[in-house]
Amino acid sequence: MALLFKTTSPHAALWRSELIRLVPGLDIRFFPEIGDKRDIDCAVVWAPPHGLLATLPGLKLIISLGAGVDHLLADPALPRRVPIMRLIDPHMVAQMSEYLMLQVLRLHRRDLTYQAQQRERVWREHVQRPAAERRVGILGLGRYGADAAMKLKGLGFDVAGWSRSAKSLDGIRCFAGDAGLAALLKRTDILICLLPLTQETAGILDQRAFALLPRGAAIVNVGRGGHLVEADLLAALDGDQLDAAILDVFGEEPLPEDHPFWRHPRIVMTPHVAAATNPPTAAAIVADAINRMREGRPIADLVDFEREY
Ligand code: NAP
Ligand code: GLV
Repeated sequence: MALLFKTTSPHAALWRSELIRLVPGLDIRFFPEIGDKRDIDCAVVWAPPHGLLATLPGLKLIISLGAGVDHLLADPALPRRVPIMRLIDPHMVAQMSEYLMLQVLRLHRRDLTYQAQQRERVWREHVQRPAAERRVGILGLGRYGADAAMKLKGLGFDVAGWSRSAKSLDGIRCFAGDAGLAALLKRTDILICLLPLTQETAGILDQRAFALLPRGAAIVNVGRGGHLVEADLLAALDGDQLDAAILDVFGEEPLPEDHPFWRHPRIVMTPHVAAATNPPTAAAIVADAINRMREGRPIADLVDFEREY
């Protein structure tokens, strides 16, 4: 029995030492040196090459090194008999909420405007609304969205969220379904996307959605680049329907050097770092799942292939 490990992270040595400490005797094969494929019963992966997982006849569990699994479901040869576990690490959930509190506060306190003014040596004060009058809307009230909603509410914002099934979260206005989406957008000044990328959610941040937001709203996309229609964002910013966009995820990563987002004065970007996988905490979760799989015990956070998340 062996573990296939495929990551783009620079922390492969740390992963190896942590996993071997937690699962003594574990045989780890780092891609592409995977040896005899028949040995592999578990694959811990981020963006494996399409077709690779289908070549592992003894595979019993796939563990995604992130919460999103679009990188796996996009593989046309994915062996759908094998369950996929999403990595849900409280450390990453907390990191995401930190990132969103930072970005929502920047938008709320006009940080982008004051930075632009500083570059031009302009001393001008703008009216500051209280947080209770700033309406934050979160698309996706799952493991990440629910935590962010409660923490943003804790900062005093007027928070609402949208999910597929109806939800009840203390102090958060919860919307669901198609009609709920329009209602949420109409009452949102700062829109956060924390949805999984599926056939239903692809391109959800488009001209139609932007037109429903109040004029001058801002968006924060930490879901996936595929949620955003890039040309619609540029048009909405240029037409002042949107005031600003903060983007952590992109259709193509790394973002090509000649992409218009790089130099846009009202787009702020980070390189997919809102919640990065953290080997010391993630290794304990991965090790527990390996032990459970090998002992035939139940495993949490499995993907529903029908829903695509
Ligand atoms: P999750 O627990 O599966 O929650 C997904 C949420 O989206 C649920 O509330 C779900 O509704 C809702 N949803 C899904 N499809 C929908 C639809 N068609 N209409 C309305 N709501 C829909 O996922 P999560 O763990 O919170 O992660 C969400 C995503 O965040 C990941 O898939 C990934 O793309 C992104 N992410 C990004 C980073 C980063 O660093 N940028 C880090 C981690 C995660 P129900 O509750 O009704 O099922
Ligand atoms: C990161 O993007 C994740 O899906 O965890």
